[in-house]
Amino acid sequence: MGKIRILDTETINKIAAGEVVSRPFSVVKELIENSLDANATKIRITVQNGGKSFIEISDDGIGMDEEDAQLSFIRHATSKLSSVEDLFFLESMGFRGEAIPSIAAVSKFTMRTKKASSKTGIEIVIEGGKQISQNQLAISDGTLIQIKDLFYNIPARLKYLKQDQTEFMHILKFVYASSIAWPNVSFQLYNGLKKVFATSGNNNLEEVVSEVFTYDIFKQMRKIEYQLDEIGVTGYISLPSCTKVDRDKQLFFVNKRYIQSDILGKALRNAIATIFPSQRHPYCFLNISIDPSEVDINVHPAKMEAKFADEKTIYRAVYHSVRNIFEKGFIPTQPEPAPESFIREGDDKIVLSPQSYYKKEPIDRSFSPASMDMIFGEPVSNADHYNPLETFDYIEKKQGNDRQVASGLMPVMQILNTYLLFWHQDQLWVIDQHIAHERILYEALKEKKQEVISQELLLPETVFFDKTEEILYHEVKIVLSEIGFNIEAFGSGSYIIRSVPQFLINKNIKTMIKDIISETTEKDAGKKYNNILISIACKAAVKAGDSLTNMEMNKLVADWLCVKNNMSCPHGRPIAKTFMKTEIDKWFSRR
Ligand SMILES: Nc1ncnc2c1ncn2[C@@H]1O[C@H](COP(=O)(O)OP(=O)(O)OP(=O)(O)O)[C@@H](O)[C@H]1O
Ligand SMILES: [Mg+2]
Repeated sequence: MGKIRILDTETINKIAAGEVVSRPFSVVKELIENSLDANATKIRITVQNGGKSFIEISDDGIGMDEEDAQLSFIRHATSKLSSVEDLFFLESMGFRGEAIPSIAAVSKFTMRTKKASSKTGIEIVIEGGKQISQNQLAISDGTLIQIKDLFYNIPARLKYLKQDQTEFMHILKFVYASSIAWPNVSFQLYNGLKKVFATSGNNNLEEVVSEVFTYDIFKQMRKIEYQLDEIGVTGYISLPSCTKVDRDKQLFFVNKRYIQSDILGKALRNAIATIFPSQRHPYCFLNISIDPSEVDINVHPAKMEAKFADEKTIYRAVYHSVRNIFEKGFIPTQPEPAPESFIREGDDKIVLSPQSYYKKEPIDRSFSPASMDMIFGEPVSNADHYNPLETFDYIEKKQGNDRQVASGLMPVMQILNTYLLFWHQDQLWVIDQHIAHERILYEALKEKKQEVISQELLLPETVFFDKTEEILYHEVKIVLSEIGFNIEAFGSGSYIIRSVPQFLINKNIKTMIKDIISETTEKDAGKKYNNILISIACKAAVKAGDSLTNMEMNKLVADWLCVKNNMSCPHGRPIAKTFMKTEIDKWFSRR
């Protein structure tokens, strides 16, 4: 007897599930896409434990009759494709006929569905791919799918899942993306009993973009509308004054399908290269409208990749769509008054309605070089100078006598606006001004904790967090308050920054806080604490390229000589290089 056997359906589905369903996010994605294909106008998503223990998606779409409901659990059974040619004219999100059987193979799965023309609905319960029950029941039109204990029968997969919060964040990002691509559909996302995100479905894209990115960011975004041959590019992108430390808020779509694409990412990166500060990224979403026969989505079962027949034209279309926005310059205009719905229900606490921003920040319509700052806001890498008086009082107090060391210094000289040169203890020293200052600030934060002097802002600043940022903020808020931040929640994602550590006065605090929370993904509490200190020190330190006054240079060097661990920055880079007198003498054959 031969060794080759045909696998049973259960095993086939479990294997296929490995590719289609990698984490709770993939389940949510597949089920939302099914609801969209079913012409739903309302989709409600509820998850618990980041989707690991519970996911429920209900829609008011066309539903299924009994026969279709049963067929939907069969692999390669689909209503969306009848021949291979259809693949080139895809208008639906799904087409492979494998999402439902794959999900049902690795979870405890319940489907309730009813067509408008049927009198009753049907409920099918499947566990690990095996049918447990099937019943008729009275339900409303549409479909509800409930998934419990995802991967309960594949412990190896379960181990790879991240913290609940991380898994939830992936789901949230997909719901954000779907709501942007489908402003005519109302999405509601619940994390347990808490409603986390909702859109009205009234086809108002601006309203959705504002919900997803926050109104504060939306105000600083510009609309993209571009056509190159048969390719259309639409979307929004933020101004260079409104950036992020990561690319987390960049969403790409092809024919309304949310995808991950190297080519689109590269076109965007290159388009902003000389316009945005280096290492900073715009908030952005772009939808490419293209003839379906020019793009292949069937690259991977997860349908998150796209292969374009003509990559070069796609690249050019995206590149120019973005470039065009910035090349024409900006004439600041008063944004349209925000629709009522921006002022969210039950938020009577909120005094800062969009209208009141306008009052607070009057917009100058004149366009002159001087108004560039206003248009682009404060440069992110604001070259705030070294301010000895603000920063290092504490070293004076603590290390009083040690400071004598610094008093015998020769004058300090700055070269390339980056390095400081001075003579000390028979050696020529060259130090990197940025990382030396970073070490000083880091040690100040670390040693002093509570005592790092907190200073009240003359004008408190309001920062707006989207849902993802808000979740991350709650993870770091204790650390921030320990080191001198006083930030008050104001409801609906708005927070008021009242005081900050003294040396951060005059810095771009809002951007800094957003960066800190985006960067801090560390689970370990100690490491997280440390990373926040490093991040603040790095952002607040003088930069390479900042020209310093004599007093600033001398003070920086004196402080650096007195600080602990002064040979490397907190990231481990060397701060100083020395040349002994004997070595220099040798250069000139003195010995
Ligand atoms: N929410 C829903 N409302 C109505 N019909 C649905 C719904 N979800 C699934 N179906 C039906 O079940 C079928 C199988 O769904 P499934 O997601 O497994 O495959 P698909 O969507 O056709 O393709 P893909 O595997 O690419 O998602 C669909 O073709 C559709 O006819
Ligand atoms: Mg599907």
